[in-house]
Amino acid sequence: STEIKKKLPLNHKKVLVTAGPTYEAIDPVRFIGNHSSGKMGFAIAAQLVKLGADVTLVTGPTALKSGMGIKRIDVTSAAEMLEACTANFPNTNACVMSAAVADYTPVTVASQKIKKQDAGFNIELKKTTDILKTLGGMKQPGQVLAGFALETNDEEQNAIGKLQSKNLDFIVLNSLNDKGAGFRTDTNKITIIDRDLQKTVYDLKSKDDAAIDICNKVTALLTA
Ligand code: CTP
Ligand code: CA
Repeated sequence: STEIKKKLPLNHKKVLVTAGPTYEAIDPVRFIGNHSSGKMGFAIAAQLVKLGADVTLVTGPTALKSGMGIKRIDVTSAAEMLEACTANFPNTNACVMSAAVADYTPVTVASQKIKKQDAGFNIELKKTTDILKTLGGMKQPGQVLAGFALETNDEEQNAIGKLQSKNLDFIVLNSLNDKGAGFRTDTNKITIIDRDLQKTVYDLKSKDDAAIDICNKVTALLTA
């Protein structure tokens, strides 16, 4: 019998997605983290599956479950996320980097729990590697690379700076000035800016619906 299979727009496309925060260890019981829930990245991964893509999700610590058909790689730190991303990126058609990666990490990790003292306490930090910028440097013709920019001021100018310095095909701007956007919400208000500096401003919507807009942009670029 003849099997009729519905062809989806991202069939046979491999897409790498990152999500969640990273945790940077201070000692065996403490870390530096952030409020990223992972919801945006997980919604993007789920939508890419619906579009027929072969999805790998590299995620920092979150409480979320990933759906069927997603190859999930759990990581903790920015360094681990870098390793997972650089290992998987060459084999992908597109990457959407939505993780909230720590910009700094402790210079040393204490092997035992740090005891409190009467004096104050300083933690010396060093910069992490910019994962997205690293992938931008590895990018081959035909690969699509997208990132996020979380801004509170000079939003568009900062986002365009990141788009260009990291060699991205588009950037999703999240302005914390928009009510209902960003961390700890189920909604998002995004603006997508692409390489041609074509700007699309979207309404406030659920993160699932914002994921549809983001994934449609990926699809448009991959199938152009
Ligand atoms: N990013 C990354 N690796 C880092 C830091 C950030 O890959 N070490 C990525 C994020 O996943 C996001 C994008 O860079 O897709 C933008 O993150 P953002 O914090 O807005 O920008 P930064 O370049 O880190 O600049 P700043 O925090 O100074 O605004
Ligand atoms: Ca940052």
